[in-house]
Amino acid sequence: MTTSLPGAEPDIERLKYAYRDRRAGGGFWDFRTWGLLDAGVQFNEGQFRDMVVSTLRENGRDQKWIESASVIEVGCGWGRNLYIFHELGFSHGQIDGIDLMEHFVAHGREICPSLNINVGNGLSINKPEKSYDIVLFHTVFSSLLDTRLHGGLLSEALRVLKPGGLILIYDIVEGYRTSLLEDERGKIEYIRPVGQDTLSACAERIDLKPVKSVVLGLTPRIRTLVFNGVTSPIRRRLGFANRPRKSFLTRRAIASVLSLIPGLRSHFFLVLAPEGPADAGL
Ligand SMILES: C[S@@+](CC[C@H](N)C(=O)[O-])C[C@H]1O[C@@H](n2cnc3c(N)ncnc32)[C@H](O)[C@@H]1O
Repeated sequence: MTTSLPGAEPDIERLKYAYRDRRAGGGFWDFRTWGLLDAGVQFNEGQFRDMVVSTLRENGRDQKWIESASVIEVGCGWGRNLYIFHELGFSHGQIDGIDLMEHFVAHGREICPSLNINVGNGLSINKPEKSYDIVLFHTVFSSLLDTRLHGGLLSEALRVLKPGGLILIYDIVEGYRTSLLEDERGKIEYIRPVGQDTLSACAERIDLKPVKSVVLGLTPRIRTLVFNGVTSPIRRRLGFANRPRKSFLTRRAIASVLSLIPGLRSHFFLVLAPEGPADAGL
């Protein structure tokens, strides 16, 4: 697969190497740790979902608009975020996802055969111009270390965006712990925060303007403490899964208050739109 961005291949290869053993159903990709039954994940992902809904509402997108609207998630993994659009009422044939990793896509199709997800590169989406009303990137930019790829992905998103379309970005904030993989090839970094200001500046260079930027979520360490309790590392070592606690509502209230403290927030939600009237496609 070519990247259509000369010089960017090594970073794509690094990413594919870093994710090659990340099997859905194990560790990082386990539906129990990424899924909604994990209380901490549900807190952060619930905020992400609320942001998607409020963004559509604030931009005048109603149920009638949704019925004919189309969305693509670039870097969809096994497609876990796409359910939000089903829930919202987007029609089935209008929800697409692409990802570089064949085994993620295969897993998504296995657990949900009706998901329209395909192996593909967000730098050259196999669709004509102006195909989608929404392009979503959920924790994609932080998986790419070569910053030229960030601009490349945004330009391609802009190409496939319909007039009045929106680009939604959810990613980790600067200061979030970076992740390293260590093996015979040495240390391989595979998560590096990009930051909403850096991405906004990158977007502005190609005539995309930020229309919303919110910092939210809770850092993993605090989230674990709040939702699983201080004894959770010990319980995990003893083989007990992190089950949602009975006091979930109280814990969620505590998490909501803590997530108002800037230094404890983990993610940002950024919305970009092409320069021009935001209601052009309504
Ligand atoms: C941290 S994962 C997030 C997956 C998914 N968005 C989710 O929330 O479950 C980042 C994903 O971005 C994908 N990715 C990174 N660059 C990409 C590109 N240029 N084209 C398609 N997918 C890409 C990776 O293969 C990986 O699956």
